[in-house]
Amino acid sequence: MLHFCRGPRCMHARLRQVAGINPHARKTLARIRNACEQRGMKYLFVNTKGGVGKSTLATAFAVYLHDAGRRVAVLDADEQLHSARAIAEAEPGITVVAEFEPNKIPDTITRLADQHDDVVCDAPARLSDETREMMVMADVAIFPMEPTIKCLRSTKESIEVLNYARTVTGGKPEHAWLVLNKAKKRTRLFREVEKLAPSLGLIVATEPIRDLQAFPEADQQGTVVLRVKSDSPSFEKAKSDLKGLFGQIAEV
Ligand SMILES: Nc1ncnc2c1ncn2[C@@H]1O[C@H](COP(=O)(O)OP(=O)(O)OP(=O)(O)O)[C@@H](O)[C@H]1O
Ligand SMILES: [Mg+2]
Repeated sequence: MLHFCRGPRCMHARLRQVAGINPHARKTLARIRNACEQRGMKYLFVNTKGGVGKSTLATAFAVYLHDAGRRVAVLDADEQLHSARAIAEAEPGITVVAEFEPNKIPDTITRLADQHDDVVCDAPARLSDETREMMVMADVAIFPMEPTIKCLRSTKESIEVLNYARTVTGGKPEHAWLVLNKAKKRTRLFREVEKLAPSLGLIVATEPIRDLQAFPEADQQGTVVLRVKSDSPSFEKAKSDLKGLFGQIAEV
């Protein structure tokens, strides 16, 4: 899966225009130009709402890609270090980097993307400069969301960062997924979110990730769901949900 600049849709032309006026955009242009020439796909798990499953899904996705034979790096920009710690314990074959300095994030992502097939970034639960820097660099943004009205509101707030990045880069991240996590069943809210998503520039993942005890249990065991050898229904369902979701996201 190689991703290069895509001719007329490339963001260079737009950035060249913007860079003429704004020194910050000039720097962004250099970064994006660099990012376009890289092989590594850059994924960002993001939502300003805490506890929606950003780190859980980011770590599981990194392990999934690693098991598919890809060279994977995880960039944890959250000082809680949940994904960095989980990956370090679960899979030593994945590179783990923690970086909290917004102005160092672009170079760190660039370096990792030069050396890996995939870079999986985990954002903190706030609208921060780190999150903006990561969003501008990302090819794919993934917004985990709990199926509640409160969470839908904060997800809309997070989408402002997506819109900012798309404006600055001329359309990147090209793919933005909304993932219903901790879902109990296909509720009315889920159906409403499905209808609303395209107007927000998002694609809704076909199936939600169910609310399953397997996730906190894997946390307690210091690992990720995909690494737990258990055929209990909860783990079976969790693995099946994750593989369904990642099959969709990684296909892009
Ligand atoms: N589908 C799920 N079913 C049940 N529990 C889940 C599910 N997804 C995540 N969890 C649990 O929810 C808690 C919060 O998840 P996680 O730390 O991944 O969220 P986060 O968005 O990264 O939080 P923060 O914003 O604090 O970084 C964890 O205990 C995790 O095990
Ligand atoms: Mg987290």
